[in-house]
Order: sequence, then C-alpha cells, then structure tokens
Amino acid sequence: MKPKNLKTKIFLDSGDPKEAKEAFRFLSFLDGQTTNPTLISKNPEVAKKLARGEKLSERETLNFYRKTVQEIFQIIPRGSISIEVYADKTTTTEKMLAQAKEMYSWIKNARIKFPTTIEGIKAAQIAIKEGLRVNMTLCFSQEQAAAIFIALKKAKKGQAFLSPFIGRLDDRGENGMELIKNILKIRKEAKSKVEILTASVRKLEHLLYAIYLGSDIVTVPFHILKEWEKKGLIMPSKNFQYSAPDLKPIPYQKLDLNLPWGKFNLYHSLTEIGLEKFTKDWKSMVK
Ligand code: G3P
Repeated sequence: MKPKNLKTKIFLDSGDPKEAKEAFRFLSFLDGQTTNPTLISKNPEVAKKLARGEKLSERETLNFYRKTVQEIFQIIPRGSISIEVYADKTTTTEKMLAQAKEMYSWIKNARIKFPTTIEGIKAAQIAIKEGLRVNMTLCFSQEQAAAIFIALKKAKKGQAFLSPFIGRLDDRGENGMELIKNILKIRKEAKSKVEILTASVRKLEHLLYAIYLGSDIVTVPFHILKEWEKKGLIMPSKNFQYSAPDLKPIPYQKLDLNLPWGKFNLYHSLTEIGLEKFTKDWKSMVK
C-alpha cells in the first residue's frame, strides 16, 4: 500500500516491462516509468539478441522501443512514461523534434526526454508550445536548472520535468543530493512549475532523502524498489539525517533569475559524457 503521507511520485527507472509488472505487483502502485537508450539496450530481449551477435536496423530499434513502452503502458496506463530522443552532439533541434513527435504518438501518457543542452532546450520550448509533455534529462548543475526554469516558463503544471542525475555526481565524489536541495530552492525563487525528478538513484538513502526534501518525483531502479518494499516502504522520519561524509558538498549558488536562459552556463562535462554513453548504447543495438 502506498504510504499515506507520501507526496513524492515514485517511478521505476527501467527499460523492461517485466520489471514494471513486478514492481507494480509488490508496491501495489507505480506513478510512472523512465526509460533511456541505455536501459532499452539492457532490455533482456535486446540483450539476448546482442549476445548472439544480432543487431537491429534503425527502424527495428525504434519499433522495439515503441513496443516496449506500449507494454509498459498496459501496466501503468495512468502513469507518466518517459521516452528519450536520440541525441548526439550534432543532433539539431529539428531532428529532436521530429523524433519527439513520433515517440509522443506511441502512447497516450508519453513524455519526451530532451537533453539539457542548447539544442535540447530549444526543442523542448517548441514541444511545450505544441502541447507535448517533456522531461529535461542529464542535468548536473544549478545553472542548467535555472536555465530550464526560465526557458520553460510557459510550461503548464505537469507539462515539464527536470531530471538531475545525482548518482553520477556521487560517483565522482560530489554530494548529488545537495544538487536536489539547491535546485528545489531555485525552483521556488523562480516560481517555476517545472517538477523535479530525482534520477540516477543508487541506494535506498537517495530515495528516502528525495522524499524528505520534497522532490516531486523520484525514479528508482528495480532492485532498490524491492529493497524498499522488503523494509515495509519505510518513510523518512522528521529528523531524517542523510549522511554522505565522504562526498564533497555542492554549495547553493545565488543566480540572477532575471537573465535570459542563454546567459547561463549550460556546459557540464557529465552532460557531455552522458550524451556520449546514450549514443554508444543506442548504436550498440543498430546494424
Ligand atoms: O533515469 C536516469 C538514470 O537511468 C540514470 O541512471 O545509473 O545510469 O546514472 P545511471
């Protein structure tokens, strides 16, 4: 049963509909699911093909992605399901939008993931104008978040998510959860309607602290949802302490939110590395 005082929406981070089915069964609820090229390439059906040395054509890869999200839709028809456009460093706004429109037609609760880059933000602005739901992915800094809040001012409530990837910051010795804390503060100052989706979760404490901080959404790998269920879907107490003594703090940055979004520094090395990894994993499936 969903804990009564749980306000944060819980998503599954996976490219496997079987995990969605199982998580929905043991949690008795699931508010949504996030996918990306890496997670799709890890789907057991594709992974088996790749292990046999078989690859798919570009069209077959997209068809497989579509079939996968349509299966997820059957399990959580009222949840939000994020589908990510293919984007490398050279992908234009127009190319992202063309993919977005096709992907958006796959299921009625689709939400399109665009990278937090100049081209990705431009594509998201047009998508928002055209009524699509978006999820800005690969966010690693407060400046990137501020740019999104300003660029997506016209988004209606529920139309835009922003996904800071906290685990990848932890991986390199920075306290990723502090990014969530700071971004929530900036969101309040910017009076933005963009919802914060804590992503790249590595452990149960990330989930609990995201709930404690009031992250709107948190997307969680299957094994951590399982661990949470085994612990009786515990909730953080009022005095919950998140301890990360070995991680470098990420101090809050006071930013001028009256600036146009293009004035913020959108570069972050992890955004670039993240795009490269998604590209590589997508290409690993394609002939
Ligand atoms: O939803 C984002 C997530 O899939 C990224 O997680 O573990 O690859 O950093 P990770």
